[in-house]
Amino acid sequence: MSHYRASLLFVCLGNICRSPVAEALCKSFVHTHNLPVHCDSAGLHGYHSGELPDKRTLKNCQQHGLNMDGLVSRKLKRDDFYQFDYLIAMDQPVFEKLNTMVNPPELKNKIKLFRYFETNTSETCVPDPYYGTDSDFELVYQICKRVMPELNQALVK
Ligand code: 4NP
Repeated sequence: MSHYRASLLFVCLGNICRSPVAEALCKSFVHTHNLPVHCDSAGLHGYHSGELPDKRTLKNCQQHGLNMDGLVSRKLKRDDFYQFDYLIAMDQPVFEKLNTMVNPPELKNKIKLFRYFETNTSETCVPDPYYGTDSDFELVYQICKRVMPELNQALVK
């Protein structure tokens, strides 16, 4: 990944609802702005490993014209803490779990909270839509969309 200025890994629980949307929006953003940034996503657990994003996520993203081709769920691996410059947690519990997993502890400063980059909010989580409705999936999209410029501005120097 040496030709990239930054590599970002978005992390949620299942890697089928929230982090794939962040990955796809980040890829779209860096493509539009011609930024040398590598984006990927992963889940803390492997319940959905090898699966496409959730059908409700695909439907919502299709409505927004966001390309989700090629996205397949995978479980976070230990090597990700070395391979990526930043591991970006989609909510507070994921952030805390990443902080307990990281070893050696010097890598801790790679772990960020997604909504930490959003100005004018005290919210810390992109709410998990898995047991929710279409409007919860729309909220995931809207939060991820508005955070993307600020996140890239902060991390891509
Ligand atoms: P995600 O949503 O973490 O945004 O991908 C979830 C997906 C699956 C489950 C929970 C949350 N699950 O319990 O299987």
